[in-house]
Amino acid sequence: MAEFTLPANSVIKSGKTWAAPAGATRVKNFRVYRYDPDSGENPRWDTYQIDLDQCGPMVLDALLKIKNEIDPTLTFRRSCREGICGSCSMNIDGTNTLACIKAIDACEGDVQISPLPHMEVVKDLIPDLTHFYAQYASIKPWMQTQTPAPPDRERLQSPEDRKKLDNHYECILCACCSTSCPSYWWNSDRYLGPAILLQANRWVVDSRDEATGERLDNLEDPFRLYRCHTIMNCTNTCPKGLNPAKSIAELKKKMIERR
Ligand code: SF4
Ligand code: SF4
Ligand code: FES
Repeated sequence: MAEFTLPANSVIKSGKTWAAPAGATRVKNFRVYRYDPDSGENPRWDTYQIDLDQCGPMVLDALLKIKNEIDPTLTFRRSCREGICGSCSMNIDGTNTLACIKAIDACEGDVQISPLPHMEVVKDLIPDLTHFYAQYASIKPWMQTQTPAPPDRERLQSPEDRKKLDNHYECILCACCSTSCPSYWWNSDRYLGPAILLQANRWVVDSRDEATGERLDNLEDPFRLYRCHTIMNCTNTCPKGLNPAKSIAELKKKMIERR
């Protein structure tokens, strides 16, 4: 198969190409971003030619095949391989998604894989999520109450109140949405971004939580909430089909209602 041809002005150059085994008949190119900050070398694109007849159906299967059989230096996160843990989030063919639920057959032509955009890279496909998790901690993502729990049962919730948690509890904190948001790219030092705001709303809408006022106070700031300009990238990219932009709109509405 032909190697990738990069545009002449490409900032990142092609690296090594790992040829498909002799006799392979269903070969697909995987062009993977490689970067090791400790090496002092520039990032590069390595190309791995994979025989799809010897590979599982998902992009994560291809990455595991590369790591296990071709190039053990390739580094990426994964755990559940079921779209549950959120570890394998990365950019595949220009879209942030989960490698374990992205079918190779859904990728037309060559497959290009890079880390989630606009994040510091720890190595290869691993972004540094330290700041993202610190922002998550800043919204106090646990139930806060003043009244004691009933002595003989848990805190109950009506079916209607429980339904308000839909579009929130399913979030796996993969960061696909936040790293697709232009406002987050440019202001992530102060803007919380769609994933964390969806989580903030998850506690605001929970009928059992008693810290709603304090939670909204914490968002009353020109940057933390109001840098969302309803661009909708977040909702378009969420691999769990959630709608962070709707949660953000709900938070803004609650801010107005309490004034
Ligand atoms: S809202 Fe969706 S894209 Fe964003 S962190 Fe949660 S699961 Fe990931
Ligand atoms: S709707 Fe808001 S949070 Fe979502 S991508 Fe746009 S600016 Fe970012
Ligand atoms: S490996 Fe857990 S979501 Fe992909």
